[in-house]
Amino acid sequence: MSSNRERQPSEKRAHLRTRMIHGLSTSQHWEYGHHVVPPMTSSATFRLDSVARGAQGFNDFAHDADESHDLVYIYDRLDEPTRGMLEENLASAEGGDSALCFSSGMAAISGIVQCLLQQGEGLISHHVVYGCTYSLFTNWLPRYGIGVDFTDMTNPDALRSSISPRTRVIYFETPVNPDMTLIDMEAVSDVVSDVNRKRDESQRIRVVVDNTFATPVCQRPLEFGVDVVCHSLTKGIGGFGTDIGGVVVMPNELRNRMLLYRKDFGGVLSPKAAWATLVYGLPSLATRMANYQKTAHHVAKYLSQHPKVEKVLYPGIESFPQFALAKKQMRDPKGRFSPGSMLYFILKDADPEGKKGSRFVDHVAQNAYSISLAVSLGQIKTLIECPFNMTHSSLPPEEKARHGVVPGGIRLSCGLEDWEDIVADLDEAMKII
Ligand SMILES: Cc1ncc(COP(=O)(O)O)c(C=O)c1O
Repeated sequence: MSSNRERQPSEKRAHLRTRMIHGLSTSQHWEYGHHVVPPMTSSATFRLDSVARGAQGFNDFAHDADESHDLVYIYDRLDEPTRGMLEENLASAEGGDSALCFSSGMAAISGIVQCLLQQGEGLISHHVVYGCTYSLFTNWLPRYGIGVDFTDMTNPDALRSSISPRTRVIYFETPVNPDMTLIDMEAVSDVVSDVNRKRDESQRIRVVVDNTFATPVCQRPLEFGVDVVCHSLTKGIGGFGTDIGGVVVMPNELRNRMLLYRKDFGGVLSPKAAWATLVYGLPSLATRMANYQKTAHHVAKYLSQHPKVEKVLYPGIESFPQFALAKKQMRDPKGRFSPGSMLYFILKDADPEGKKGSRFVDHVAQNAYSISLAVSLGQIKTLIECPFNMTHSSLPPEEKARHGVVPGGIRLSCGLEDWEDIVADLDEAMKII
C-alpha cells in the first residue's frame, strides 16, 4: 500500500513528542488519506494477484528496498502494515535507521545477540543485568559456543582489559536494572572505537544498550556512539501493561540479517500488540514520562529524608552517586534533565535474608491502594517488587550482593497516580517495620 501524502515540511522540525504521536507523514505501509488512527491489520496471510507478484515479494524480502514498485506483503511473520508503522516510529524516536519488533523484550535481546555473534566469538556484559538476560547469557549462549564475560562497565579501564580478540558485542543497561547504576555510554563507545580502529570490519565490536528503563524520552543511546538499542516494549513504551513486546533499533547494514533471523526464528510482534503500542503507548510516552518523573522525584525526596531508609538510588536527586553523569546523558531531546521513573531503595538495619524488605513490600501488597506488588515497570500504575528474589533471581546471590542488589532491596516504578497517594501508602508501610 503506498502513501497518498507527501512528506510534510513541518515533520522535519517536529519535536519527539509530536513525532511519537503522528509518526511519519509518509509510510510505505499505509495510506493515511482517510485515517486519523492507524489501522489494526489482522491478516496472517496476504492475497496476491499473480504468482509473479508473490515471487516479487519473496525476492524483495530482506533485500534492500526496491523503490520501483510497492511493498509486497506475503505473510505476517515476514512483514505487515501495523507493525511496520510502529517500527518506523520507534526508529524515529531513537534516531536510528531502522527498527524491528519482536514478540517480547527477551526475543529482541536474544535476536540481536544471536545475529551479531557466532560460535567462537564473545560478548561482554555489565555484571548486573535483568535476570532473564543474565540467564540467556549464562545458560544459552555458551551452549552455542559463544563466550560470555562480565565486567564493571562503569570502569572504562576494566572494560578495555576484558576485551579479547573474540569480543564482538558489549552489552549493558543504563540505568542498570534494578540498582540504577549508570554506565557512561560515551566512555564505553570511546573504548570500543579505539579497539575497532585496529580491527577489520568483520571483527568489529558493536555496543548494544538496553534502553528500557530510560526510554527515548530520557536518553537516546545512539547519540553517544552506541550501535544498537533494544527495549522491552512491555514497559515504558507500551505503557499500559496490556501487551508484551520488544524492539531492536539498528543501523541499516544490520536490518536484512535481522529480518531473516526474525523470519526463521519466528518471534515477531503480533499486529494487535503493535497496534496498542502504536496508538496508545508511544504517543502518550512523553506525557506519561513527564508525570512519572515528577512523582519519582517527590517519592525519592520522601524516602531520602525518612529515618528508616538507608539509601535511595534515583538519578534525579543530588545524593545520587553518579548525579553528574545522570545530568550529562539523561536528557530529553530539548536538553531538559530527564532522570526517569524508576528508583531503588534499601531500608535501614536490613537483615541478611532481606526479611525486613519483604515485610515492607508485603504490607504494601496487602494494604496499599495506589501501589501494586508486581514485576514490570513503566506503566500507568505504580509497581513495587524485591529484585533480589524476584526479577533478578537468576543471578548468583553472592554476585548480586557484591554489586549492590541486596536481599530486601526494593524497586519502585512510578505511575500516574497522585504522588501524595503513593507517599501515603509508603508511609503506612514504614510504620510496621
Ligand atoms: C531492562 C529489561 N530488559 C528486558 C526485559 C525483558 O522484556 P520482556 O519481559 O518484554 O521480555 C525486561 C523485563 O523485565 C527488563 O526489565
